[in-house]
Amino acid sequence: MSIQVIPTGAPVGAEIRGVDLSQPLGDNVFATIERAYDEYGVIFFRDQAIAPQQQVAFTSRFGALEVNIFSERWSVAGCPEIVVVSNISEDGKPIGVKRAGENWHSDMCYTARPPRGTMLYAIEIPVLHGMPLGDTEFASAAAAYDALPEALRKKIERRKATFDFAGRKRAFPLTPEEIGRNPPVQHPIVRTHPRTGRKCLYVMRDDCTGIEGLEQDEADILIAALADHIVKPAHIYRHQWRPGDVLMWDNCTVQHRAIQDYDLPLRRLMHRTTMGGAVPV
Ligand code: OGA
Ligand code: MN
Repeated sequence: MSIQVIPTGAPVGAEIRGVDLSQPLGDNVFATIERAYDEYGVIFFRDQAIAPQQQVAFTSRFGALEVNIFSERWSVAGCPEIVVVSNISEDGKPIGVKRAGENWHSDMCYTARPPRGTMLYAIEIPVLHGMPLGDTEFASAAAAYDALPEALRKKIERRKATFDFAGRKRAFPLTPEEIGRNPPVQHPIVRTHPRTGRKCLYVMRDDCTGIEGLEQDEADILIAALADHIVKPAHIYRHQWRPGDVLMWDNCTVQHRAIQDYDLPLRRLMHRTTMGGAVPV
């Protein structure tokens, strides 16, 4: 079967069919996948069965893998590049990070070089009365930029925000050492996608704690207004998971959040990889 790219019809997202990610991919197939990834911001493959090393191999085609604060706590045994995202506990101990990313965010925006993208491989998905739960929502920060009034575009042009690792409430307590290792950084509020050249809003609540050149009150109001604008329904694709899905998002083009509408005994288990990125411009 040859490769097919099927857009979701939302401002982001496309399904890729006709690819088996457990096999090495030829350069042409990979180029089609990467083009779709750049264009649609979120791509997914259904009905995959991949071992940790196969996920690592596929992820590494997009750039060097990153090991982050999650992998230090919850990686797959023998595979430090894969983080377990799960609500499951074994012998009273969580096997992975739970309640990760409940509020809108872009992964690791508080670092100097936020990751290009993130990949989740769905192994177990909670289902209640036949309905899958634990969806993930994606908002197009590119469509959100395009929809801004001209005067507001001018106001935020070339401005930078402060991103603070300690600003967001996380799924687990941070150590003082982790906070010390992640001092606040500055990034442009309007990013230019390094591959497509599209402009994307890069603002979110909690992580963004101020805007250069604005008084704190004015900055707080603008951050909230832009953050709310990005996640308007018109900008959103909501992914309903099936076991066997491999999905990846672009951390410049989209923001995302996990819908926390399930709990044990309903289990959710994902394997997550992260691909290295560049300084936002
Ligand atoms: C993440 C994340 C969302 C989800 O892994 O970065 O935000 O639905 N996950 O698990
Ligand atoms: Mn996330």
